[in-house]
Amino acid sequence: MLKTLQLYFSVLGLLAGICTAQTTVSVSATASHAIPTSLCGYFFPALSGDGGLYAELLQNRAFQQVTPGTTAALNAWQAINGASLAVIADTKPVSSALPNALHVTIPAGRTGAVGFGNTGYFGIKLTQGSVYTASFFYRFPTASSFRGNINVGLQTTSGQVLASSSISVSGSQTTWTQVSARLRPSTTPASTANIFTVTVDGTAASGQTINFAMFSLFPPTFKNRPNGMRVDIANALQDLGPSFFRFPGGNNLEGGTIAQRWQWNATLGPLVDRPGRVGDWGYINTDGLGLLEYLTWCEDLNMEPIMAVWAGFALQGASVPQAQLGPYVQQAIDQIHFTIGDPATNENAARRASLGHPEPFKLKYVEIGNEDFFASTTYTYRWPAFVNALKAEFPDLHYIATSFPSNPVLSPAPTEYDNHLYASRSGMVQNGFFYDDVARDGTQYFEGEYASTTNDAGATLTFPTMQGTAAEAVFMMGFERNSDIVFAASFAPVLNDITSSQWHPNLISFDAGSVYLSTSYHAQKLFSRNRGDEYIPSTLPARNGTLFWTVVRKTSAIPNELIIKVVNTVATASAVTFSLPFHSVSSTALAQVLTGSATASNTPSTPQLVIPVNSTIATGQTFTYSAPPFSLSILTLTL
Ligand code: AHR
Repeated sequence: MLKTLQLYFSVLGLLAGICTAQTTVSVSATASHAIPTSLCGYFFPALSGDGGLYAELLQNRAFQQVTPGTTAALNAWQAINGASLAVIADTKPVSSALPNALHVTIPAGRTGAVGFGNTGYFGIKLTQGSVYTASFFYRFPTASSFRGNINVGLQTTSGQVLASSSISVSGSQTTWTQVSARLRPSTTPASTANIFTVTVDGTAASGQTINFAMFSLFPPTFKNRPNGMRVDIANALQDLGPSFFRFPGGNNLEGGTIAQRWQWNATLGPLVDRPGRVGDWGYINTDGLGLLEYLTWCEDLNMEPIMAVWAGFALQGASVPQAQLGPYVQQAIDQIHFTIGDPATNENAARRASLGHPEPFKLKYVEIGNEDFFASTTYTYRWPAFVNALKAEFPDLHYIATSFPSNPVLSPAPTEYDNHLYASRSGMVQNGFFYDDVARDGTQYFEGEYASTTNDAGATLTFPTMQGTAAEAVFMMGFERNSDIVFAASFAPVLNDITSSQWHPNLISFDAGSVYLSTSYHAQKLFSRNRGDEYIPSTLPARNGTLFWTVVRKTSAIPNELIIKVVNTVATASAVTFSLPFHSVSSTALAQVLTGSATASNTPSTPQLVIPVNSTIATGQTFTYSAPPFSLSILTLTL
């Protein structure tokens, strides 16, 4: 049906093109297919959690995965007034997961506050009146008669104290004890160049040695969840209106080596029981943002999880031999039981219940690995090992393969694939019709990662440009047009700390204080917030053209809405006439337009250079729309 209608409208378009110079688009009266509700969502790549979405403010808070005695182990920590600091492997660690401690000695002869501070993730944003919850463990490695205070504070790097609290301690405390403090800044400092401080009085504590472990400093979080999300980033993600969330990666799932893979069960429970892991891209993951936090986040934003299980392949190239896959398959089974199992009959589900979530989470899609086309020769045995065992245990779930349909040929044949496309502007436009040519054989597709990453000269973009964003919008129109076989799609990567950037361009950039929404962010939001529930065929745009459109209907809106998306990929405005077959068409439409010059980018210095602008345009059964240069327009009519 879809193909027949498209052929019909192609011929109409050709005839229209022969008769007039102006593009005329004929729109069908009837839908060809329903659009899946899952179509727009987002993906959680490797470097989005610590220092990003996860609201923890202290970097290297628990000295996880560092080498004791090295300078690198003290990353983000600094001495105050001559205190001697070292990271040690504690003889009595705070937990088996956290073997390291900060070993602090107060030298003789120091007066005033002596101690140490943490500079956060390249700064700490502080707001007057907000409550910051600080905590840490301490012990005296050798008992002493010391009695005094540990002062916990927030201050600017120039020494202005913004908040402080005293905790009384005793030198007889040789076992670990956890203490906490609430800090409320008296003023909002102008910059994020602030530090978290822990000090003692130098005279009173002269010669004392204290060990510290597992620090934490949390600001207010999204929905006030303990161990929760950074509010401004969470709000930006929520504003996208996502339907799904793909986690934990991406490369983040894989680990550089097999030992460094993401292990769901090491990300649960008290923070002191989470060892963390060496991340794939040269930094350490705390795993404070663990499986339960991911799933709770899905519930908070009403998103469907697309949850990956580790599938025997690590990023640096190692694959688990076939005969040794058993424990890893079991780990995947246990992960799914944790997510959806019955606490009465399964110990992993019972663990979930013990952590406060007895009800199963929603789960339909499980992804087997990530980008396994990089290890296609071993995916041929890893795929069946995982998918057969998982299907036997969870027959109702859908399993997504992460290789290409033709390479390697997998058995059993996957019913869902995750495709990725990072391309130049022109490459992205050329792929706008990729799914039009894919066989309708029952296979469904997830475009799990895509972005226009380079300009046509091959230079990698630092931030999305309007030219690249328009190209991505052409690709996204392909998802809409082919949403009979494309069930979900997500831009990648989503989050980027501009002070420690490892991959660009990204959808959202941020630093310690602010969030910067890219041109592509606005396009994603426009698509997501202006979805239809039915795809309406229309004259097809020329594949090698510069003006593109799709038409969808939103029958859930009363009155029904007809949503027309128009993308112009070049520097000159271009007009298109729509001919609508509906009896009642509103005489005006809301036009939401994102437009800018080819290289226009929203950056930290020009964060709002390109944002959607709304206007009202005249419409009717036939109307002409002029699409501005490098633009995405959303025209919403009522029927
Ligand atoms: O999006 C960044 C990375 O690109 C993803 O983690 C990985 O899957 C892909 O190669």
